[in-house]
Amino acid sequence: MKDILSELEDRRKDARLGGGQRRIDAQHGRGKLTARERIELLLDEDSFEEFDMFVSHRCTDFGMENQRPAGDGVVTGWGTINGRMVYVFSQDFTVLGGSVSATHAMKICKIMDMAMQNGAPVIGINDSGGARIQEGVDSLAGYGEVFERNIMASGVVPQISVIMGPCAGGAVYSPAMTDFIFMVKDSSYMFVTGPDVVKTVTNEVVTAEELGGASTHTKKSSVADGAFENDVEALAEVRRLVDFLPLNNREKPPVRPFFDDVARVEESLDTLVPENPNLPYDMKELILKMADEGDFYEIQEEFAKNIITGFIRLEGQTVGVVANQPLVLAGVLDIDSARKAARFVRFCDAFEIPILTLVDVPGFLPGTGQEYRGVIKHGAKLLFAYGEATVPKVTVITRKAYGGAYVVMASKHLRADVNYAWPTSEIAVMGAKGATEIIHRADLNDPEKIAAHAAEYEDRFANPFVAAERGFIDEVIQPRSTRRRVARAFASLRSKQSKMPWKKHDNIPL
Ligand code: HXC
Repeated sequence: MKDILSELEDRRKDARLGGGQRRIDAQHGRGKLTARERIELLLDEDSFEEFDMFVSHRCTDFGMENQRPAGDGVVTGWGTINGRMVYVFSQDFTVLGGSVSATHAMKICKIMDMAMQNGAPVIGINDSGGARIQEGVDSLAGYGEVFERNIMASGVVPQISVIMGPCAGGAVYSPAMTDFIFMVKDSSYMFVTGPDVVKTVTNEVVTAEELGGASTHTKKSSVADGAFENDVEALAEVRRLVDFLPLNNREKPPVRPFFDDVARVEESLDTLVPENPNLPYDMKELILKMADEGDFYEIQEEFAKNIITGFIRLEGQTVGVVANQPLVLAGVLDIDSARKAARFVRFCDAFEIPILTLVDVPGFLPGTGQEYRGVIKHGAKLLFAYGEATVPKVTVITRKAYGGAYVVMASKHLRADVNYAWPTSEIAVMGAKGATEIIHRADLNDPEKIAAHAAEYEDRFANPFVAAERGFIDEVIQPRSTRRRVARAFASLRSKQSKMPWKKHDNIPL
């Protein structure tokens, strides 16, 4: 008996060593943690329950029968984050470069199936050389099985990908189908074809970092939702994000204790909007002043900064925030901001997270650059996402709400539940100058007349009251009391029920 027990311990010890001390040292030498160290940091202490520690591949080509490391390059199982269950896989680069064999994929599929069945998020830590070259099509089949599960799990349990090393070729499509992708600066990259292939095919010379590093994907492509300095910071931030999310689509998001007065009055908000309507201000100030304890988890902070997306809590409850940012491009809607916000709205709706929309939008960005790239279809994504969302929706217009962008930004007409406006709001088809130049074209050569027409237009429309008279705005509120009013609005909507007509699925303009 004693021998068997010690054999188990020996086998465990061997499995935990992955590809051996030399490769572990090499991993550390690159500033990267090992697969197991990452899991330890991600999960609550001693909460990890490992599965399939002794699984090894079945390949007999290219001498692989003599190289069958226990675990086959991926550590899988479940554990807790602040006491709440999550499933996790962590690819082990020290074992055959973390490459994906049929059995490696099977291990990932097993925990994904369990996550869907038991209603808990899946967190995937990616650090892999891609398809196990010695296995050929068996490896591709394994990827296909993982992809199919990514699709099945989408909207059922939150899926989070953390890229902590290479992620290349078709392998990128598994993270791409998850809800959030986080990367580590300087040690991770994602691309469909690497620098060598790029050079051969297009003659373009580019480094891996330029082609698919964290900066590229958070600032240019928007493939990734956040970039962090190192493994430790990335894993701590994933823990923070998980705290905002429900475990699955049948549960409400967690309610956390809060120590912030829900009726907190913020007098400084009364002067947040400058008197000159052409001057910018920082919408983040409003978000931070509304949030419980000023805690805001921003998603895609570095991309399309003219719109802000992220999570706050009000009375301890998670709220998804979408806000125009007047500091960048005057808060205009364009292709990038519409796509960014639409995806966020759809995530919130899929997981029963109420949506707060803060509006200061002068309209859609004009020009051939936008039209040729399809701003019509991309803008429609956000419109569609808001209109189909059945979660509680509360909207606050702080200043401009012009034209189509007024309708898009969670207006009453898209089934928003409670629509507030600050007294500084201007709700109109367009700004006074543009409007005057169109409806009083005959007076264009007479600056005095034009100024008088513009003043008349401003008097009529540069306020929230026309919309309020029609019930499109439920109440004009004092900026200082926004936190209390919004929190009460969401509280009144906690048992909201709203249904869509039966359909197989919708056809959002992709
Ligand atoms: C088998 C692999 C491997 C792979 C790396 N290794 N990638 N083994 N299949 N795909 C092994 C190496 O042989 C080496 O083994 C160890 O992992 C570490 O690799 P190194 O090359 O020494 O590391 P490094 O210099 O850091 O380079 C990492 C790398 C490089 C850039 C990822 O290994 C590489 O280019 N690998 C091949 C990548 C690739 O072409 N993959 C297929 C992509 S196509 P030893 O024993 O020496 O330690 C794909 C299709 C998916 O993935 C399709 C899905 C539908």
